[in-house]
Amino acid sequence: TDTSADALRTPIVAVLGHVDHGKTSLLDKIRGSAVIEGEAGAITQHIGATAVPLDVVSDMAGELVDPDDFDLPGLLFIDTPGHHSFTTLRSRGGALADIAVLVVDVNDGFQPQTLEAINILQNTQTPFIVAANKVDTVPGWNPNEDSPIKPSYDAQSDRVRGDLDDRLYAIIGELSDQGFSADMYWRVQDFQNNIGVVPVSAMTGEGVPDLLAVMMGLSQRYMKEEMAIDVDGPGVGTVLEVKEERGFGTTVDIVLYDGTIHEDDTIVVGGENQPIVTEVRALLQPRPLAEIRTESRFEQVESVGAAAGIKVAAPDLDEAMAGAPIRVVGDRDLDEVIEEVRAELAQVAVDTEEDGVVVKADTLGSLEAMADALSEAEIPIVRAEVGDIAPRDVAVASTAEDELHRAILGFNVDVLGDAADRADVEDVKIYTDDVIYQLVEEYDTFVEDQRQ
Ligand code: GTP
Ligand code: MG
Repeated sequence: TDTSADALRTPIVAVLGHVDHGKTSLLDKIRGSAVIEGEAGAITQHIGATAVPLDVVSDMAGELVDPDDFDLPGLLFIDTPGHHSFTTLRSRGGALADIAVLVVDVNDGFQPQTLEAINILQNTQTPFIVAANKVDTVPGWNPNEDSPIKPSYDAQSDRVRGDLDDRLYAIIGELSDQGFSADMYWRVQDFQNNIGVVPVSAMTGEGVPDLLAVMMGLSQRYMKEEMAIDVDGPGVGTVLEVKEERGFGTTVDIVLYDGTIHEDDTIVVGGENQPIVTEVRALLQPRPLAEIRTESRFEQVESVGAAAGIKVAAPDLDEAMAGAPIRVVGDRDLDEVIEEVRAELAQVAVDTEEDGVVVKADTLGSLEAMADALSEAEIPIVRAEVGDIAPRDVAVASTAEDELHRAILGFNVDVLGDAADRADVEDVKIYTDDVIYQLVEEYDTFVEDQRQ
């Protein structure tokens, strides 16, 4: 047997898409089917992430995946609940996700967050496939539980198939409008340059075997080199969330994408003001198959290797930031690692101009996404920061020379009371929203009104 599997890390698969299009259901289906197949013990569900080992993938995918063809250990799925985490995980240096699944509801088609997801995948050059979800809702659909999609599709009536085709071609058309060559996945030869559309149902499981097979193939064929890592090297990851945990104080939920992290390791974490140097007190894994967000009981483990999701408890994490890098120091020079973390944070720092609007966002990832959207709309930024809108932001905005730049755009943040009062006095406009494009639009409308 091939021993190179030891050195290949699990590919990270981000599941993205518009709200309610079925991202979590799809993962639930994958988790649930595994339980039904008696594989619960083999599934590890981590923070915001579900690791599905190769044997489980091959069980679910049936004849579509022959485990002997693969030397990857499996797939690590990252659920992105709503817009918020979606941007967070597009963080640091190389994209955190190796590949992505864009979930599109066949009834709903492309929606604002679908487009946002596509833009970011385009910017980060992340290969992706489209899961055209909820095929079971096509009127007259005759379900075939957990079947590969082709036989199920072929078994539908002409009318049902025609109805589904219309919806699928609408999605393929939308992809083509975005500059992608796309087709039904079974007609795609080269998944790197063409987007495969996989019809699925998270409800009935139809198409899930195909989805898993395509993702395994994509990772194995195109990503293998990137999967080869020094598993024993010092851990490198990205902070997904900063959370209070009873008995542990402030903790960070991270996705580790390289190396290994141990208890007592010295780590450097990106902080609001400067890199935080601290020591791992505990590594906490949610129970297998527990839902991350509501998980309250954790198993303490001594070490974890990439790729994995894990909660890290350590002192002094109060100022840690979602989207920031986390690095294990290991036997390297501490100052060097601090500089690396600082550089990674600075990389995120947005290009600013002499005159422009003030931008605030809840995470580094969403700040980046905001900066991208504003740059596309040719709106200059004078200052971009993570955090709620505070009086000093109003002070900065009020100094804008161009009247049109006396504005603060806040993504997913609160406006502190004093800031709102001060903005009134200083005649600074504050816009907040949790959809980036709407935020940009609101500001654009203001600009147009002023120009008339
Ligand atoms: P957010 O996390 O809020 O962005 O949503 P999501 O994309 O994770 O969607 P979720 O999985 O929560 O599903 C939203 C709704 O759609 C739920 O009521 C699901 O039961 C339903 N749903 C998801 N997939 C399917 C499907 O394949 N068929 C049908 N009929 N319903 C589905
Ligand atoms: Mg969800």
